[in-house]
Amino acid sequence: MKLAKVDHIGIAVRDLDAAIEYFARRYGAKVASREEIPQDKVEEAMIQVGESYIQLLAPTADDSPVAKFLEKRGEGIHHIGFGVENLDGLLEELSAQDAQLIDDRPRLGGGGKMVAFVHPKDGPGILVELVQE
Ligand code: CO
Repeated sequence: MKLAKVDHIGIAVRDLDAAIEYFARRYGAKVASREEIPQDKVEEAMIQVGESYIQLLAPTADDSPVAKFLEKRGEGIHHIGFGVENLDGLLEELSAQDAQLIDDRPRLGGGGKMVAFVHPKDGPGILVELVQE
């Protein structure tokens, strides 16, 4: 198995503070980190759940991919982030299988980690983020 763990579940939200407040009030959640990711035009807040995280994502611009997602689908699960041990190697394998990659090489994501996205149309409608552990 090339996926080591569920690293995080990305949830698109309109109002980051309201979403943080919701998880705090309902489940006692605390924010582990919060940062703006300019290249993705989002602000994210990470909430730790055991060994995984909930990643709350709010758009910072109208042309942000998350803004487009919210327009089409509303708030909800946006992607699943899987931790992998060898992102370069896995991307090579996926390319050789003609997988529909959004990123064919690793790029910088949240938390200073290298990531690559696989298109929802590659599989059963799930946007997959591969995260180098
Ligand atoms: Co993510």
